[in-house]
Amino acid sequence: MAKKSYYAPTIERKVAGAPGKFATSVPSYQDNIDEIPIKALIENYGSPLFVFSEKSIRWKFKEAQRAFSLHYPNVKFGWSYKTNYLQAICATFHQEGAWAEVVSGMEYERARLLGIPGKKIIFNGPSKTKNDLLKAVSEEATINIDHLDELFLLEEISVELGKKPRVGVRVNMDTGIYPQWSRFGFNYENREAYRAVQRIVTGNKLELIGLHTHIGTFILEPNAYYIAAAKLLNLAGYIETDFGITLQFIDLGGGIASNNTLCEQYLPGDIASPNIEQYAEAIGKAFNESPFCRKNQPTLFLESGRALIDEAGYLVSSVIGKKTLVDGQKALILDAGVNILYTSNWYKHKFTPAQPITGTIENTVIYGPLCMNIDVMRHGIRFPDLKIGDAVIISPVGAYNVTQWMQFITYRPNVVLITVNGDVEIIREKETLKDILHKEKLPKHLNLS
Ligand SMILES: Cc1ncc(COP(=O)(O)O)c(C=O)c1O
Repeated sequence: MAKKSYYAPTIERKVAGAPGKFATSVPSYQDNIDEIPIKALIENYGSPLFVFSEKSIRWKFKEAQRAFSLHYPNVKFGWSYKTNYLQAICATFHQEGAWAEVVSGMEYERARLLGIPGKKIIFNGPSKTKNDLLKAVSEEATINIDHLDELFLLEEISVELGKKPRVGVRVNMDTGIYPQWSRFGFNYENREAYRAVQRIVTGNKLELIGLHTHIGTFILEPNAYYIAAAKLLNLAGYIETDFGITLQFIDLGGGIASNNTLCEQYLPGDIASPNIEQYAEAIGKAFNESPFCRKNQPTLFLESGRALIDEAGYLVSSVIGKKTLVDGQKALILDAGVNILYTSNWYKHKFTPAQPITGTIENTVIYGPLCMNIDVMRHGIRFPDLKIGDAVIISPVGAYNVTQWMQFITYRPNVVLITVNGDVEIIREKETLKDILHKEKLPKHLNLS
């Protein structure tokens, strides 16, 4: 009989309630982000703190670009500003080659301020003012029309400026995802979209160059994109045959899922969400099957937001209090709440201790610091017994938080970027009372001093 190998014995701390190495999962901790210790980040920039990894952003963008180009090379990304419009984040995507996708005059101005020319801006959204459109048309942005009143306004602007706006038609459709998003654009199935095209052609004041759709958000079914692409390409074929117009682009919007976990999901997001290659394959299949595509090779635009930025963002937070609730559950109070983590309304974020774990694992409710009953960051999570001052990393939080966060009760924290060289740069400073009072005015008769 062969002699068995010798393995030196190790002592493993037994943590009550936590499965060990022979059971399902071992609780873990993470004490750094991109090799920058969490302790140092908190010491230098405070807690709570949003941290973005430039390395992750660039890596994810390249991964997505590669996945789609593999199936259809004429692909371009428009960075969805609403997902995260901090200048440093947008500039990183633009350096990687992304255009800007904006949905308001404010976002349009942001893109222009960063040096993005109108020709590389896709202007979406249901609420574009006349002034927004005058600027966008004169700078030759691509404007995806949401409704008939906007179409009409663009025709007026066309006459006023003596210039044909470059437009796409936003289309909504049944892709098997319910509830169906039908409030944006013109419907495909009832031929409203076709009639909008016909209206543009008969008006002869707009240059129709593409079709757009955004089928919904956090779409977990890649085949929905196959259906969306096939329907838009089919419509593009009709537009070419019926009106003699060859469209230059097909824009499939955003909605690709990140690795977050929806509140109602059982499996964790990194298992449940399809990977970007699966979406690319579905879309590529529709493009490669389409006779319109074979003939014209239109640009495939994607406006992915969350799928490109979510995993690059972390929120570092510290324990400020502990409680036992009347039902016996443990509760932790963190210094970051729902005011800065809007997405805790939709997701069960991952909460990872930032130092070695001690004590027992128990069902724990995690609260934020607000004096509001709704300030619950996570319900009933199995969590170790942290000490006051211990840090926690909440992830992924890169999408929609630093745009949808609220200035409420307290100041919004610093946001830092860990650069590819390992430097830490502040990309948005923590607010002060001066920042907040800056826009307020106190009528003279109410002045108490
Ligand atoms: C028109 C449009 N494009 C792109 C996006 C980005 O979506 P996501 O972050 O889900 O990829 C949105 C988000 O709502 C949108 O409305």
